[in-house]
Amino acid sequence: MMDLKCSWMVLISICIISSLIGSFSVYESVRLDDAREDTEKHYVTLQVDVSNSTQRPIPETLFGIFFEEINHAGAGGLWAELVSNRGFEAGEQNIPSNIWPWSIIGDESSISVVTDRSSSFKRNKIALRMEVLCNSNGCPSQGVGVYNPGYWGMNIEEGKKYKVTFYVRSTGDIDVSVSLTSSNGSLTLASEQIIALASEVSNWKKKEVLLEANGTDDGARLQLTTTKNGSIWLDQVSAMPVDTYKGHGFRNDLFQMMVDLKPRFIRFPGGCFVEGDWLSNAFRWKETVGVWEERAGHYGDVWKYWTDDGLGHFEFFQLAEDLGAAPIWVFNTGISHNDQVETASIMPFVQEALDGIEFARGDSNSTWGSVRAAMGHPQPFDLKYVAVGNEDCWNKYTYYRGNYLEFYNAIKKAYPDIKIISNCDGSSQPLDHPADYYDFHVYTLAKELFSMSHKFDKTSRDGPKAFVSEYAVNVTDANTGNLLAALGEAGFLLGLEKNSDVVGMVSYAPLFLNINDRRWIPDAIVFNSSHLYGTPSYWVQQFFTESSGATLLTSTLQGDSSYVEASAISFQTNGSDYIQIKAVNFANVTVELKVNMTGLNSSNTKVSPTKKKILTSTNVTDENSFSNPEMIVPKESLIVMPDGDLTFVLPPYSFSSFDLLKESAAYIKMPISDSYTM
Ligand code: AHR
Repeated sequence: MMDLKCSWMVLISICIISSLIGSFSVYESVRLDDAREDTEKHYVTLQVDVSNSTQRPIPETLFGIFFEEINHAGAGGLWAELVSNRGFEAGEQNIPSNIWPWSIIGDESSISVVTDRSSSFKRNKIALRMEVLCNSNGCPSQGVGVYNPGYWGMNIEEGKKYKVTFYVRSTGDIDVSVSLTSSNGSLTLASEQIIALASEVSNWKKKEVLLEANGTDDGARLQLTTTKNGSIWLDQVSAMPVDTYKGHGFRNDLFQMMVDLKPRFIRFPGGCFVEGDWLSNAFRWKETVGVWEERAGHYGDVWKYWTDDGLGHFEFFQLAEDLGAAPIWVFNTGISHNDQVETASIMPFVQEALDGIEFARGDSNSTWGSVRAAMGHPQPFDLKYVAVGNEDCWNKYTYYRGNYLEFYNAIKKAYPDIKIISNCDGSSQPLDHPADYYDFHVYTLAKELFSMSHKFDKTSRDGPKAFVSEYAVNVTDANTGNLLAALGEAGFLLGLEKNSDVVGMVSYAPLFLNINDRRWIPDAIVFNSSHLYGTPSYWVQQFFTESSGATLLTSTLQGDSSYVEASAISFQTNGSDYIQIKAVNFANVTVELKVNMTGLNSSNTKVSPTKKKILTSTNVTDENSFSNPEMIVPKESLIVMPDGDLTFVLPPYSFSSFDLLKESAAYIKMPISDSYTM
C-alpha cells in the first residue's frame, strides 16, 4: 500500500506516470482508497435470507481447474519424467540434428556424437550415435558419453529410487555407466554398470536399471558414459522417480496443490496449446497414446517448447480420475492461430474427436477403448464434457461456426449425454447455435475484474450456462502474482458464485509456472525442480472449496459497498450445518461487516461463528516467492463471539471467510478455542 502520508503532488505524479505506462487502474484504486483512509468508520451490512424458499443449489461442478501445457506445466512439471528430449526428436526430423539439452562428456579427440534415423520406433526415427575413439592411452577414467540436465536440473533425493530405461545398440560389447550426478558431474549420487556382449546388443535392446540415490541435489543430471571404444546407439532414454502419485507419473507435491483446491473438474490440455500457431504443431491426441517409447513428441509452437508427450491423452484422463474431478477434454476444431480447415473438409477432424471420446469411454473391445485397456485402464473414464476448440469463435472470419455444428451433431448423435461447450460468447446475447455451455475467458486489470462480479447479473436465465474456463487479473496490476490481483479475482468469483444459476463452471488460468520458462504470468502455482509456492490467486481459490454442491443463500449488501463484495452459502460437513460468509474488502480502509440473518425457521436456531480465514498482507503489491513462499497465505483461527453478535472486521485489502455453525438451541456446543473474540 502507498505511504499514507504521501502528498497529493506525489499521488498526482504517480497517476500521471502510471497512466503513461498503462497501469492507471492500479494506482487509481490506491489513490481513491487512500483518500478513504481516514478516521471515519466504514460499515456495511449483509442481509442474508436463510429461508428455504430463496435458497438455490450451487452446481456440483462449479469450481475446478484448467491444466494447460504452458510454462512447462507438464513436461518439466507435473509429469515427473526427469529426462528432457528423451528420444532425441526435439532437434527436428532432419539429420544431423541438434540434441539439446543433451550434452557431450569428453572432447572431439575422444568422442563424436551425431543423430541418425536408425531408431526401431516407427513414429520417432531419430537415435543418437556415439563413436568412442579414445587413443592408445584409453579414455579418461570418468569415461566419455552424454548427459541430460533434465528440465533445469533433476531433483534427486537421498534414499529415493529412480527407474532409468533406455534402448541401446552396438557393433561390439558394451560397458556403460548409468549415473545420476551433481550438475557438473563431479559428485555421483547413484550409478550402475550395464555390461552386455555384442551378440546381445547387435539389435536394439531395452535396458532398465533402478538407481537409489545416496545424496540429494535438485540440480542433478543423468549421465551415460563408457571407457570402451566403439559405436553405441542410444534411444528413448527415460528416468522416472519411483515415487509419483500412485505410481501414475505425477509429481507428488504439484499433484497435492491441485488436490487441495478440491477441483470438481479439470479442463485440459489447453488453451492455445490445443490450437497451435499452425495446425502442424497442434496437440493431436492420437500421437500421445500407447507406450511412451512410441510417442513422437511435438513442438508446441505457441508456448515455444518441445514436449515428449509423456503426459498424453490417457494420462490426462488418469489425472482427472486421481483428482476425483470430471474430465473436460478440449480438442482442436481444425483451426489454429494461423491456418484453418474449411467446414467441407472437417470430417476427418470430427472422426478424430469421436475416436478420442471412444478412447475415453468405449468398452475395452472397441477400437480405441482397447488401446486404453492395453494401457492399463480397462474401465472407461467418466467423460461427460467436451469443449469444441479454444477461443476459435473470437475471429469472425473463421470456419468455427460451420465446423462446430459438424462436431456438435456427430457427438450428440453418438453420445447424447455428453455436454458440449461452444467457444462463442453467450453472456450478452443468445448463441445462434445449440450448446450446453459457452466458454468465457477474461484477463484484465484488478479493478475491472472486481467490478465484473456483476457481469452475469443481467445474463438471460435461459439458454446454455457459462463456463468461465479462464480468468485472471494480469498485466501491470498483477506483476508476477500479487495480492491486488487476487482480490480482484475474489470479487469476480463471489459474483460468479452468486450467479451460479447461469455460470456452471469456473477455473483460473494458467495453473502452473516452471520459473525457468515464464511464458505467461501470473500463474496460480510456481515451481522449480524441488520447490513450489501458491500465488495469492491460488489461495483465493482455496476459499471456494466448500462452494461446489453447496446452497446459495440470497444476500444483499447495504451501505458504502462499492469496494466490498460478499456472498453467503450453507453446507454440511461432518454432520453439522454451516453458513459461510465470504467477503472481500478491495480498499485501503477497515470495514465493519454486520451480518443480519432473516428466515431462520425456528427461534431456537442459533448461528454461532466458529472459524475465520483471512488473506491479506501489509502491502497490496506483496507477492509470495521461493524465499518467502507463505508471505500471503490464508490465516485461520477459531472465533468466539457474544451470543447473537455477527459483526466482523474486514481489514484493508483483504479476503475473509467466516464459518457459522447452525444448531438448535437445545444442542448448542461452542468450539474449544485458543483464540480471541473479534
Ligand atoms: O491461459 C493462457 C492462454 O490464454 C490460453 O492458452 C488461451 O486460451 C488464452 O488466450
